[in-house]
Amino acid sequence: MSLALIIPDRKLDDLQQRLSQALPDTRIEIWPDIRSAEEVEFAVVWKQPAGSLVQLPNLRAIQCFGAGVDAILADPTLPALPIARIVDSSLTDTMVRYLDGVLSHYRLRLDQFSRQQRQQQWRPKSPRQISSICLLGLGELGAAAAQHFSAAGYHVSGWARTAKLLPGVRCYSGQAELAQAVAEADVVICLLPLTAETADLLDEEFFNQVKAGTIFINVARGAIVDETALLAALDNGKVQAACLDVFRQEPLPAEHPFWLHPAILITPHVSAVTNVSTVVQQIAENYCRSQRGERLLNPVDLSRGY
Ligand code: NDP
Ligand code: OXD
Repeated sequence: MSLALIIPDRKLDDLQQRLSQALPDTRIEIWPDIRSAEEVEFAVVWKQPAGSLVQLPNLRAIQCFGAGVDAILADPTLPALPIARIVDSSLTDTMVRYLDGVLSHYRLRLDQFSRQQRQQQWRPKSPRQISSICLLGLGELGAAAAQHFSAAGYHVSGWARTAKLLPGVRCYSGQAELAQAVAEADVVICLLPLTAETADLLDEEFFNQVKAGTIFINVARGAIVDETALLAALDNGKVQAACLDVFRQEPLPAEHPFWLHPAILITPHVSAVTNVSTVVQQIAENYCRSQRGERLLNPVDLSRGY
């Protein structure tokens, strides 16, 4: 019996070693060097090559190595098995700290000053007035960020699929309330999962609904945003700046217009990277649960797609 790590392009020694310690009776294998496909009963995956899971005939469950499962669900040959995702307070804190840092970057006008530095321009200006923030997505990460910014004194609104009650956050839900949720926001942060419903959701109509001069931050998935609409909104000033951590194609292709756009700040999908040391226990626990035929921790609802 074995557990397979199907996580291409990442050094896996640490994860393999920690899982071996947590599960001493289980062989931890690294795809594609699987000794016997028949023996693999649990797979930990991140951006797995399509078709890799269906080759494991005795698989019982799939553990996503991140919070978002869109890449797993995109595999047309995905076996019908329980899937779990990462929910981790350390990951949540990392995301909130990243967003806090990005907010400070814009509040202090570091985007403008770094442009001016390149032109050797000395133009002092007081910080931007940012008083209102909207979170699209009020799940594990969005709700934590909303509450963090509310506690920091911002007016915070949030938008989710279902109605929510969060102290200090004006909550909106459903497509009909999206425009209201973003109408007053100086900063809009996207923390939605990528699903059939959210793909291309942030389109021309959406960017027409935001407050003029808003700052847009996407730390969710690139394909939620219509790139042409975002570029148009930046070029016509409806959106004054965008910080993008996620992209339709990663790495972002060299010729992509986002790279050189003066109002776009790019980070290479680093806002909250899964921390091996803090997630190994939940992965080991899910392995044991799958062996006992029990419900996994942090299960994905396949009917919702997240
Ligand atoms: P959750 O599943 O906990 O939360 C998702 C939220 O989005 C929920 O509030 C949900 O509403 C809402 N939502 C889903 N579909 C819709 C819809 N159609 N309309 C309105 N709201 C919707 O996810 P997490 O907070 O854990 O993570 C969010 C995403 O962040 C991940 O899916 C992943 O893509 C991304 N991510 C990015 C990282 C990075 O490094 N850049 C790191 C980690 C995550 P409801 O509550 O009503 O169900
Ligand atoms: C995740 C991510 O979903 O890193 O965890 O994007």
